[in-house]
Amino acid sequence: MLKSHGCGELRAEHIGQQIRLAGWVNRRRDHGGLTFLDLRDRSGVVQVVANPGTSGEFHTTAADVRAEWVLQIEGIVRLRPEGMQNAELPTGQVEVEVHRLQVLNPAKTPPFLINEESEVDEMVRLQYRYLDLRRERMQRNLVLRHKVIKYIRDTLDRRGFLEIETPILFKATPEGARDYLVPSRLYPGEVYALPQSPQQLKQLLMVSGLERYFQIARCFRDEDQRGDRQPEFTQLDVEMSFVEREDVMALLEELYTGMLASLFPERQVQATPWPRLTYPEAQNRFGTDRPDLRFGMELKDVSDLAAGSGFRVFEAAVASGGEVRAINAKGCAGFSRRELDELTQFVASFGAKGLAYLALPESGEPRSSFAKFLATDRLEALRARLEAEPGDLLLFVADRRAVVLESLARLRSHLGARLGLYDSKLLSFCWVIDFPLVQWNEQEARWDPSHHLFTAPLPEDVHLLEHQPGRARGQQYDVVLNGHETAGGSIRIHDRALQERIFQLIGLEIETAKQRFGHMLTAFEYGTPPHGGIASGMDRLCMVLAQEPNIREVIAFPKNQAARDVMAGAPSMAEPGALRDLHLQIVDGRPGRPKG
Ligand code: AMO
Ligand code: AMP
Repeated sequence: MLKSHGCGELRAEHIGQQIRLAGWVNRRRDHGGLTFLDLRDRSGVVQVVANPGTSGEFHTTAADVRAEWVLQIEGIVRLRPEGMQNAELPTGQVEVEVHRLQVLNPAKTPPFLINEESEVDEMVRLQYRYLDLRRERMQRNLVLRHKVIKYIRDTLDRRGFLEIETPILFKATPEGARDYLVPSRLYPGEVYALPQSPQQLKQLLMVSGLERYFQIARCFRDEDQRGDRQPEFTQLDVEMSFVEREDVMALLEELYTGMLASLFPERQVQATPWPRLTYPEAQNRFGTDRPDLRFGMELKDVSDLAAGSGFRVFEAAVASGGEVRAINAKGCAGFSRRELDELTQFVASFGAKGLAYLALPESGEPRSSFAKFLATDRLEALRARLEAEPGDLLLFVADRRAVVLESLARLRSHLGARLGLYDSKLLSFCWVIDFPLVQWNEQEARWDPSHHLFTAPLPEDVHLLEHQPGRARGQQYDVVLNGHETAGGSIRIHDRALQERIFQLIGLEIETAKQRFGHMLTAFEYGTPPHGGIASGMDRLCMVLAQEPNIREVIAFPKNQAARDVMAGAPSMAEPGALRDLHLQIVDGRPGRPKG
């Protein structure tokens, strides 16, 4: 090895030892005829000193090096002089006196600072990702991710799970997104689809009698990018035979609780066992199936108080079957006109046509966009419903239920963060259960699965499939962590007839269903055990654990918000020859530009 120790490993116990180090120049300082280098490798940083007396010609080399040059040095570890010790640095008691120094590779000045945190345009960070990953923050994130995944592998192994790889070149496995397709060279016009998840394959492994499967699985979904979405991402994918919903939920909860206790003992978990909300309760109280339980500010239905109030906006919404709901922004009665306008614009981006307010100042009269319709009894009723105190600001949206819930749920998250209503280190898990099995898709005028095609209905709700499918509940369960959906799974259908009924319900012609999922239907005829599973987004989990604002920070080489790899330049134009081999011709779209 070019090195005998890691830079960050050196301590007082090494004093007097002759050692070899290799790493990057983190910083160079010249001081009183001496040259000080902070040498860095993955293990940390140590101070290296070159002086004209003991280092000889190597002092001259040391004086010439620049940040990010790669060096090998040999020398002796010694105690730093009195007053020069640095308690902040793990190696701060010692330094290394250089006896030999070799430049292994010089470096250009990097496009951003590696040795300290500074604001850098993310575009530049992604373009030079290999340099970005040299930074301490990014190395810390990659170490965290490694530890999380290693803990999961070790624990599931102990619990009798087998890790089994499943193909990337496969057939469409829908999870509600668009597929990435890979054209076949051997079969003109035919394609493989990259899996949106290993859903079908893990179910087939249950048919095969593997009983307990897991995989750290890469999934591919061609959908709009967001802070917590990437076109390719990683799931902890799990499937188990002979289980009921409680068994799968217990496994995941124990796995995560154990992991937090062992890897992140300092992090506070808000509640264990994790609270459970039914889907209707989550929608009703928080307006979303991903409720952030770190703070209150629940959505209160005030439709009954709005009816007959004389305020046209509210009355019209209720009269046409919609709702009026409000949240209480505690202590915000002093918000300015401009701040209120900003909040109105914020909810407008989620379809709300306005944001009515009622401010209850500590002293003086209430201020409101519907003041003249506020008879005393209604004002009191609103106060009581929203548990309002002097100083509070009540914010109202009136619209179709879906718009009211979405816009107020977003506003709630926005205000929760802006007002600092929670400790950002807190981990708040909950389960959401009892999702509707199918949801009405207005645009396509058909039922869509809430989760996916293979989720079983609750046994007591199977009879509803015939006439009231919208009321049937699925055996689905989601994990929400600080407002992010971090896992989702279900007990599956293992009966061919029921599976065919679900295909029928969601409008899949039986012939189409056979073409797409014939292998599943056939497999179900050969002795299929009852089974169920779950998949957890590793990127999202690590993002929250690392307290990062988006999942790109916990992925070594992510795509940017426009789904491009800006470092290597992907996607890129295919060679004409390659297109010919694949029997493809480009008929529209300008090279290198997304369509539209
Ligand atoms: P689902 O589609 O809910 O379920 O996905 C499971 C988890 O994967 C994560 N996730 C994502 N993370 C980053 N980027 C994305 N684009 C992305 N999409 C999903 C989320 C989500 O909770 N086969 C089923 C699981 C099952 O039924 O067992 C499935 O994939 O954290
Ligand atoms: P308008 O009658 O449209 O001038 O609106 C009066 C007040 O009601 C303004 O504060 C608007 O922001 C608010 N408002 C308008 N439409 C809605 C709505 N659908 N829900 C809540 N408030 C609204």
